[in-house]
Amino acid sequence: MNITVAGTGYVGLVAGVCFAEVGHKVLCTDTDGERIKLLNDGICPIYEKGLEELLKKNLKNKNISFTENYKKAYEKPDAIFIGVGTPEKEDGSAELGYISAVSKQIAENLKQDCLIVVKSTVPVGTNDMVEKLINDFLVSDVKIDVASNPEFLSQGSAVNDMMNAQRIIIGTKSKSAENMLREIYKPFKSPIVCVGRRSAEMIKYASNSFLALKISYMNDIANLCEAVDADITEVAKGMSYDERIGKKFLKAGIGFGGSCFPKDTKALIYLAEKNNIHLKTVEGCVHVNENQKNVLYKKACERFLTLSRLNISVLGVTFKPGTDDLRESPASANIRKFLNDGANVKIYDPAGMENARKIFPEGNFLNGKTEYSHSAKEALSGSDVCFIFTEWEEFMYLTPDDFLENMRRAVIFDGRNIFDSRKMELNGVEYHSIGRK
Ligand code: UGA
Repeated sequence: MNITVAGTGYVGLVAGVCFAEVGHKVLCTDTDGERIKLLNDGICPIYEKGLEELLKKNLKNKNISFTENYKKAYEKPDAIFIGVGTPEKEDGSAELGYISAVSKQIAENLKQDCLIVVKSTVPVGTNDMVEKLINDFLVSDVKIDVASNPEFLSQGSAVNDMMNAQRIIIGTKSKSAENMLREIYKPFKSPIVCVGRRSAEMIKYASNSFLALKISYMNDIANLCEAVDADITEVAKGMSYDERIGKKFLKAGIGFGGSCFPKDTKALIYLAEKNNIHLKTVEGCVHVNENQKNVLYKKACERFLTLSRLNISVLGVTFKPGTDDLRESPASANIRKFLNDGANVKIYDPAGMENARKIFPEGNFLNGKTEYSHSAKEALSGSDVCFIFTEWEEFMYLTPDDFLENMRRAVIFDGRNIFDSRKMELNGVEYHSIGRK
């Protein structure tokens, strides 16, 4: 099938490359000319395991290509997938400007009947708006159908999440749209769930918010565990054997970040408020998460009285391992506080340094100073305290001696519970973590 993908950000690019991989002819379009050039040269502008290899392979066999010329891209495809961004606005609602711009461009250039598929995360009712917009602006005498097909890709495992999806959600108004999407997704061999368009839109927000809720719940329980001398990792293990609870997303820590959970929970609350409904559970989840980002900072302030002029090493700045993305990362929020308090912060992250430098430039910054290191051990050297914000695998290989030998004082605040607390304490490291005494 001939597929055009609008937007070569995270959602659009992974979808486009995976559609090409299963044999569709894919043309991706984006307004960012530099990005298009990189992609046509086989260079992946986002950090995602396995994506560049698939991109190169499918450029070579001509299943995928990239163009800035959206007019050409929207002329004659069988289906157009919209994968542009829907960032958070100040009031928490989703910004739909890119969706409406693409809808109008499609309407002005489409020259044959076409299925338009909205893949971006959009508030309930957006598919109806897209359908109306395109029909209002159509230039040629052609018919369109609009379908919702939310994505469930996690950064760091996005290619696998698409190639081996646990489910594919298809929200349509007509049987023909459903059949066409079934055909497009046939090679993926994943279960397909067909629902109404508004339900499909809601499934995405409800799923992300549910996962965020699970995390905030565990963080709440973790804080209680600390107060009553229980251990959250043991508690999570015991809970996970119940199939109704499940094993995943039970890890307590310094809070969730990224471009999805923070934005989607707020957008769901906004949607509910517009409909005079208070989503108390999701509101609670957002509130718990905001507090959770500060728990280690508060503990450190109690321990040191002030962070001013303290040498702080930071291991991990990305919102999770496997990505170079710092959006809404608990590390960013904490580093800003350290610098505001006048600390000297030495940062190391295996993938996020380039993006970190854009937010926290090297040298004197705010009231403190930022430095970047080439390795975890280099970041530790001479420091008074170490904060761990991302559970990168390479940090797990650090031993108590690495901390004792490199730091001025081996004091650790671990936001991801990556070490055995007993082992650390027995070896003379002062170790603070989440939900464990
Ligand atoms: C999330 C969803 O998991 C995807 O299904 C969804 O498609 C995607 O958002 C999206 O809407 O595009 P992602 O944001 O990439 O994916 O990352 P997650 O793996 O869900 O992690 C989000 C945050 O939760 C991270 O900061 C992570 O550290 C934190 N987390 C996760 C925990 O604190 N504890 C856990 O047990 C799991």
